[in-house]
Amino acid sequence: MRDKLLQLEKAAFEEVASVKGKEAVLELKNKYLGRKGELAALTKELGKFPPEERPIIGELINRIRGSIEERIQSLLTALLQNEREEKLKAEKIDVTLPGRYIPLGKRHPVTQVMDEVIRIFSGMGFEIAEGPEVETDYYNFEALNMPKDHPARDMQDTFYISADALLRTHTSPVQIRVMKEQKPPLRVIAPGKVYRRDSDVTHTPMFHQVEGFMVDEAITFGDLKGVLSAFLHSLFREDMAIRFRPSFFPFTEPSAEVDIQCVMCSGKGCRVCKGSGWLEILGAGMIHPMVFKAVEYDAEKFTGFAFGLGIERIAMLKFGIDDIRLFFENDVRFLKQF
Ligand code: DAH
Repeated sequence: MRDKLLQLEKAAFEEVASVKGKEAVLELKNKYLGRKGELAALTKELGKFPPEERPIIGELINRIRGSIEERIQSLLTALLQNEREEKLKAEKIDVTLPGRYIPLGKRHPVTQVMDEVIRIFSGMGFEIAEGPEVETDYYNFEALNMPKDHPARDMQDTFYISADALLRTHTSPVQIRVMKEQKPPLRVIAPGKVYRRDSDVTHTPMFHQVEGFMVDEAITFGDLKGVLSAFLHSLFREDMAIRFRPSFFPFTEPSAEVDIQCVMCSGKGCRVCKGSGWLEILGAGMIHPMVFKAVEYDAEKFTGFAFGLGIERIAMLKFGIDDIRLFFENDVRFLKQF
């Protein structure tokens, strides 16, 4: 028995010395040390020996198991180490190579201005509301005090989808939607896309507006002036001259258009301001009692102001761009300037 065991040890050592590859080593391990392996087979014969000899043979078996295991383990460790070194060699990084150029994306100028406008009004406590771009005649016109035969409808060349459905021509319908849902006090802005059948250097069929309104008891034209002045000063310059000019909108009374001092010529008069020194920047006014009637607010109790502004127009003035269509051509040479 002793001879058989030593024989087995020798054979194992020889095989371990010449084996190649991890797979083969594991196979070898199984062959000698596995549950059905050669050492296990010899161990089974232990019972045939007289009890006093068994511990001696047992001890030998254990020693041999240990020594074979040790050799196989160190072989495996060496193989693993080798594998890792090969891998590292293959993955070597050449730190002298020039870096790859990854172009950096930027926000679109229209988005930049939109975000800035939202930031300023958020700072004054205005909440953001949204409405659908496909509107009904009721929300886009009727409820805003523009009945079917109202001449103001001609001002806005509308894209109709059906007799009743259209692409909203302004963000003002969001006023109606919010007021029907909520009760005053309200301080809301509604940013979004609007559509008109119009196309030239200052008009595109789709553009962006921000609508704003504030409703409560005792809101005055003074509040309108205060909020819009603070907004324009923050958006352009703290000392920018502003003027409020009487105007007309069906959904406000009184109505005003707000001008800023021309940003191109600082009020001296130029091509952009057509010599006047002023640029029209937004429309505004006190919400018309007919609008309150449409949303079932008590016009005796509540007053409010509203305003609407075009984002592309502001972006053109801020960045000195003279053709609105540049915003939508997505020419990277144009866009990367902002
Ligand atoms: N909805 C108007 C437009 O698109 C802009 C506007 C003017 C909105 C006056 C208002 C307002 O809320 O009070 O031309």
